[in-house]
Amino acid sequence: MTVQQFPKDFLWGGATAANQLEGAYQEDGKGLSLPDVLPGGKERMTVVNQPDFDFSLNEDKYFYPNHIGIDHYHHFKEDIALFAEMGFKCYRFSIAWSRIFPNGDDQEPNEAGLKFYDDLIAECLKYNIEPVITISHYELPLNLVKKYGGWKNKQLIDFYEQFARTVLTRYHDQVKYWMTFNEINSAAHFPIMSQGLAVSNGATDKKNIFQAWHNQFVASAKAVKIGHELDANLQIGCMILYATTYSYDANPVNQTATMKANQENNFFCADVQVRGHYPAYTASLLAKYNLQPQDIDYTDAELDLIAQYPVDYIGFSYYMSAVEEVTQANHESVKGNLMGGVRNPFLKTSDWGWQIDPAGLRIALNQLYDRYQKPLFIVENGLGAKDQLDENNYVADDYRIDYLRQHIQAIGEALDDGVDVMGYTPWGCIDLVSASTGEMSKRYGFIYVDVDDAGHGTFNRYKKKSFAWYQQVIASNGANL
Ligand code: BG6
Repeated sequence: MTVQQFPKDFLWGGATAANQLEGAYQEDGKGLSLPDVLPGGKERMTVVNQPDFDFSLNEDKYFYPNHIGIDHYHHFKEDIALFAEMGFKCYRFSIAWSRIFPNGDDQEPNEAGLKFYDDLIAECLKYNIEPVITISHYELPLNLVKKYGGWKNKQLIDFYEQFARTVLTRYHDQVKYWMTFNEINSAAHFPIMSQGLAVSNGATDKKNIFQAWHNQFVASAKAVKIGHELDANLQIGCMILYATTYSYDANPVNQTATMKANQENNFFCADVQVRGHYPAYTASLLAKYNLQPQDIDYTDAELDLIAQYPVDYIGFSYYMSAVEEVTQANHESVKGNLMGGVRNPFLKTSDWGWQIDPAGLRIALNQLYDRYQKPLFIVENGLGAKDQLDENNYVADDYRIDYLRQHIQAIGEALDDGVDVMGYTPWGCIDLVSASTGEMSKRYGFIYVDVDDAGHGTFNRYKKKSFAWYQQVIASNGANL
């Protein structure tokens, strides 16, 4: 099957996040991070949403899967070699903030933590794999959450600046592609992961979420400034969660609700980070929560910084689409990545209830490019499924191949539409711990890792059927799907 020709330098690769695969949660001076206190299992988000959740460890009661991940910390050479065998042109990973600044507010970085990333980057470059780094991916140092209350506190801007300056200074001559915050807009629905706000420290107060966003916008602009001063060629992007949102029907009431939902869920953060200023609908969005612009603590100097240092490209995750409907009280609902919604009768769902919609990716690419005219990088996409290892240590994951094939076709169609797409890094290219449920059994990888939900297993790596398939997709630059 042939689709439109992908650009010659298209960045094929895969994506992970430190907290979900590294393990070694206290090794070489690493401090505790937020995901280190998130228990495993489907009750993860329920536990976090209880008013008495106080971010402390309770090992008698819970298992903490992020403590061991897939032990990538000790397997990274083997893992990068497997990525190289697939032909990866790039590899998106994050730097665990608490490996570098164990408490977040330390004066000096932890040299042993930096050494791990020196080695990881060197390993990528050995195979000509371009590193793509997310500076902050759902892994705040726990101390910044407990002592400072997370991103609603302006002091975090300085701590982030110090962290970003440290890693940008150290790696700018080896790493060209960066992102400032993973899925910054996900806080609209679930502010714990990106802002460190749980019920117990103010997540129920929308004012905190908008304040935290503002602080993150300033921090992001500072990272862009630092990066561009080090090297004007660095490409520093934002990263948003994008769920293409359809109106349930042609009822103008639902259409209007869909327009508003798009502004709030998909565009608000990117509008600020890409255009360099708050969008015109900001006051009306705040008013929805009985807030006014003056309720947010901001200065002219901060707005200037945001204006001067917009991002260079838009990274985004795309797993599923959503449906907006406000006219009926009872509608069938579905689950989703940190947000659920109305069921779309035209779509099938994954084992975890996420609606599968390849055409929605083409629409997302067109909507984002029409709005911003900046290069787009699909830095997450994929199918979380219950893979079964057979007696030959093989997984025939045709369902995953089907999912990815259809989404790559959709990218090809968007290229035909004239959209500028830089690359594609499917999520969890090697099995890792799920962010929303803490399960290992929700697998996305081309590589199976033998570890279960309780952390038991050999940690051996096995190639799934999709490994060879993706290898030939990359080798043919997207021509053979
Ligand atoms: C995105 C996150 O929301 O989706 C990842 O950036 C996450 O960290 C991914 O792992 C898939 O979600 P989940 O909950 O299936 O791991």
